Amino acid sequence: MPQRLPADLLAEAQELDRRMAESEWAALVGGWLQDCVIRPLAAMDAASDARAPSPGVPAAEVTVQERLWELTTSVTTLCAGLGAPTGVLQAAAGLQELVCRLAEAEGPDVVIDWTAELNRLQPGLAPQIRVTPDGPYLLTGVTTLYTHLGEPVPTRPQMSLCRCGESASKPSCDGACARTGFVGDKDPRRVSDQRDAYIGQQVTVLDNRGICQHSGHCTDRLATVFHLGEEPFVTPSGGRMDEIIRAVRDCPSGALSYAVDMVEARQQVDYAGQREPAIEVSKDGPYRISGGIGVVEGDGEDVPRNDGASVEHYALCRCGHSQNKPFCSGMHWYVGFTDPAPDPERTPTIFEWAGGLPALTRMTRLFYEKFVPADPMLAPIFANMSADHPQRVAKWLGEVFGGPPYYSQEYGGYPRMISEHAGKCLTDEWRARWVSLLCSPPKRQGYPTIRSSAPRSAPTSNGVRDWPSRTLRSPPVPQPICRCPAGGGTPPQDRPAAGCPPWRSGRTRKLSWWSCLQPTNRSASRSTSRHSFGPGTARR
Ligand code: SF4
Ligand code: FES
Repeated sequence: MPQRLPADLLAEAQELDRRMAESEWAALVGGWLQDCVIRPLAAMDAASDARAPSPGVPAAEVTVQERLWELTTSVTTLCAGLGAPTGVLQAAAGLQELVCRLAEAEGPDVVIDWTAELNRLQPGLAPQIRVTPDGPYLLTGVTTLYTHLGEPVPTRPQMSLCRCGESASKPSCDGACARTGFVGDKDPRRVSDQRDAYIGQQVTVLDNRGICQHSGHCTDRLATVFHLGEEPFVTPSGGRMDEIIRAVRDCPSGALSYAVDMVEARQQVDYAGQREPAIEVSKDGPYRISGGIGVVEGDGEDVPRNDGASVEHYALCRCGHSQNKPFCSGMHWYVGFTDPAPDPERTPTIFEWAGGLPALTRMTRLFYEKFVPADPMLAPIFANMSADHPQRVAKWLGEVFGGPPYYSQEYGGYPRMISEHAGKCLTDEWRARWVSLLCSPPKRQGYPTIRSSAPRSAPTSNGVRDWPSRTLRSPPVPQPICRCPAGGGTPPQDRPAAGCPPWRSGRTRKLSWWSCLQPTNRSASRSTSRHSFGPGTARR
């Protein structure tokens, strides 16, 4: 396809905008073309001396969808190499998002086909985030984007993510940054860039407060080592080495690291570079990047990092108020940034209330990694479990608790789960022990709390966790997984063999999302961590 100049594409985008305004798609398109395509192309055109001849006007019988698709492929083609201008990347992201939204109206197969074609036009580029001056994050080649609940967000080869906090289409940018006059500069009052070393008996903890995003994971999960509002911030001899390492690796901003014998364990802290590139859109907080996605400035140069910062995982501001832009500095809490907005009319599922798959996975990992091996009754039973057993259990629990059917999709659902346990002669005593340990491990530090924070209309906590385990006594008949409805109310029906949880009767009072949640984390982090289990770094 011949490459075209910005002026050419701009004229075509303007003509398309006029035609779309008169079409059946007018409401869907709104000001999208104007804000996300025409504006960045116009900025490029104004900065360019090159003037293209007027574009050939397509025949009148060409539909607006066909014209949109033609323009999208033209602009996407310009993004196929490294170093495409920022305006072109932004316009491509806007157009790709628009065609995929139009395709959604046609059906999921159309979205898949069109996305595949766009991928073909923009192949094989390493995942990268470009921070535009006073504008959005431009994502190239990022294929894993997920919500705080671990649910996938559809990706396009070229995307534009909001960083001013004002987009009405979060996480996508809708051009609000330009309308509101967003400024992407750092604040001179930001916490200074200084790395400290806290020397302990077995391990030295390294920390740079100038990187911290104030998630509170460290202080909430290992309060004997990481001290909120106290000096010293870290006392490494206050915890076991494995607990400290887990807390350091879970730090989403990359502020923390550790050293053994005064040699920094950078590789271990960065998961030996084994994690797949991924971005979590955290609740009421930043984008949490993992898997070493490069982050560059508008001119393609690497964004400067603070001393000791991880390049494997870091947090990018999406509220627009960080003092350390583009990185998050924890200001989202102070400005009351909220996304997604809670729906007071809707009672959350237990899956949502618990914090979704990341939180459940964190819980099951901790359970099988720390508590089961120390239990004389359960340790031999799980000694030969598969490496991904905690993830499987998390997906099972998530599905039962009203979350997405990941267990059914990936592992074969109810019959598979039953057959996996058949013939193992599991006794009621073992089953009861598994449930009681899951609910109340002997040493609770860093372990999620469910009992006291359960929504009043939900099944009791032991009941909730006992329910899945009781299904193990059921025959492996081909039936779907029994699921908890949102927030309680009507108990699951028609599954006597599987055993349903002991729902409390007579409770019909509607509870809001917020009243269902236990503030397990420190106050400064509640905005991002208002879940019973707290957000974790694990995901699907
Ligand atoms: S980002 Fe969170 S886990 Fe990391 S140092 Fe800051 S408060 Fe602790
Ligand atoms: S998301 Fe903006 S400061 Fe954290």
